This record gives sequence, C-alpha cells and structure tokens, in this order.
Amino acid sequence: MSILKKHAILEKNVTLLAIFAFLVVTIGGLVQIVPLFYLENTIEDVEGMRPYTPLELAGREVYLREGCYVCHSQMIRPMRDEVERYGHYSLAAESQYDHPFQWGSKRTGPDLARVGGKYSAEWQVDHLKDPRALVPESVMPPYAFLADKKLNYDRIEERLRTERMLGVPYTDEMIENAAGHIYAQADPDEKGYDYLDSLIEEYDGIAGRDGSVEYRDYDGDRTRVTEMDAIVAYLQMTGTLVDFSTYEANDLSNRR
Ligand code: HEC
Repeated sequence: MSILKKHAILEKNVTLLAIFAFLVVTIGGLVQIVPLFYLENTIEDVEGMRPYTPLELAGREVYLREGCYVCHSQMIRPMRDEVERYGHYSLAAESQYDHPFQWGSKRTGPDLARVGGKYSAEWQVDHLKDPRALVPESVMPPYAFLADKKLNYDRIEERLRTERMLGVPYTDEMIENAAGHIYAQADPDEKGYDYLDSLIEEYDGIAGRDGSVEYRDYDGDRTRVTEMDAIVAYLQMTGTLVDFSTYEANDLSNRR
C-alpha cells in the first residue's frame, strides 16, 4: 500500500484523523516549548534596570486605574518609523518588573515607553490637567482631579512584598522604608529628608549607577503627596533606566 493510500485511511476516519492530528500538534508543541524551560533566563539581563520606587509604583497604579493604556502603548517596535519617532526599540528587560506589562497595540495617543524626560515635570502636570491647553488638537481627556487627590499608600509595604513574590528584587530595607521613600521622592526637602539617602542608595544600588532616581516635588503642592505626584514620577522615569549609549544589541557580555 502506498503512503498516499495509507493516508487516505486517516482522511476517511474522523476519529483517527483527530487522534493523529492531536499527536502531531503535541509533538510540535513540546519541541517548541520544552527548550525554554532549560534556558537559564529567556530575558536578556540588561544593565541599569531597577524595580520601581514606591512612588513610581503607586503612580503606575493610577495609570492602570485611569485606563491610560486604552489610548497609549508602551512598546517601541524595532521598525524604522517607530525608532525614529520614539527612540531605541523596547527591550524585553525593560518590562521585566511590570505586572502587568503595558505593551498594548492601541495608539490613540503616542507610545509612552520612552516619554520619561521628553518633557519637564511641569509640562506633564499641566498637560494632565488640561491637555488642550498645550496641544490644542488633543483628544486626551483632562485629569486635573489627580492633583486634588491625596495619594493613598497605606498598603505600600504589602504591595512591594507582593511584587517581591513575583520576582522583583525588593530588599527588606526597601519594603520597610517604602512609606518614607514615597515622601523622600515627592518632597525631598521637608518630611522626606530623613529617607532620601536610603532611597537613593537602595535603588541606585540595584541599577548599578548614580542618578537612576529623580526626586522633587512634582505637583507644586508641598503640603501633601498627591496622585499627580505619583503619576508624573512614573511618567518621568519610563524608558530612562537603560543607557543606550553603552548598550549594544546581541552583545553576549550583557548576559550573565
Ligand atoms: C482618549 C485617549 C487618551 C487617554 C485615555 C489618555 N491619553 Fe494621553 N494622549 C492622547 C493623545 C491623542 C495624545 C496626543 C496629543 C497630546 O499630546 O495631548 C496624548 C498624549 C499624551 C502624552 C504626551 C506624549 C508625547 O510624547 O507627546 C502623555 C505623557 C500622555 N498622553 C499621558 C497620558 C496619561 C498618563 C493618561 C492617563 C491618566 C492618558 N494619557 C490618557 C490620548 C489619550
């Protein structure tokens, strides 16, 4: 019996065809998936990455709550038009501490993966309060209320602890001082002063360089930490951790 005739048996028997199709898909799946379990790490380890500071993490939560991802992606694709507009394409490692990641594909507004440092913090605050005051043709809704809402960070220690369970390298010290670090980053002169050194030391330590943490009063209100402080702290650090003047794609020395 020729091979084609044998195959005809399969084609005429639905149950047999289903069983063999299942076998073929199973083997194909295993061949693709099993090797991944044996790789040390499927994410390239890149210098400069550090976990979010508690203020940035809280700001990221405001970003999620307000649904900014409905209009904004955070992944620069490795295509020329994207790279020329937004900067170096996004690396997997840049979202390694994101739970959940914000890659997305819906772009009513621009990609925000590298918006950090593109504008001043004042611009960010003014733009969030009233986008059309700065960009007249904007369809972005205003978020002025964020400046009136005191940031709730009662559970910030538990929040960091949860992130640690998911693999984010927060140290005991970072968790213990999380509330102090929020004050230090948003109001580095007054109440926060005592925690400023520890904030910088801890986070720069993991980043492996100086200056990875920006600290300032973001919203211009010294009396309290608002959701505006938090979200602008978050926006201003997106995409700023990896130093692309020293990063070389596919350079094996970047892998540990
Ligand atoms: C309805 C869609 C929509 C939503 C929701 C939205 N945006 Fe926007 N966003 C836009 C559009 C359109 C622009 C471009 C025009 C402008 O700059 O206002 C923009 C621009 C921006 C920019 C400037 C980007 C650049 O590179 O110039 C930032 C930063 C930003 N948005 C942040 C946010 C944040 C934070 C939120 C959530 C609190 C948010 N947006 C929610 C549509 C949206």
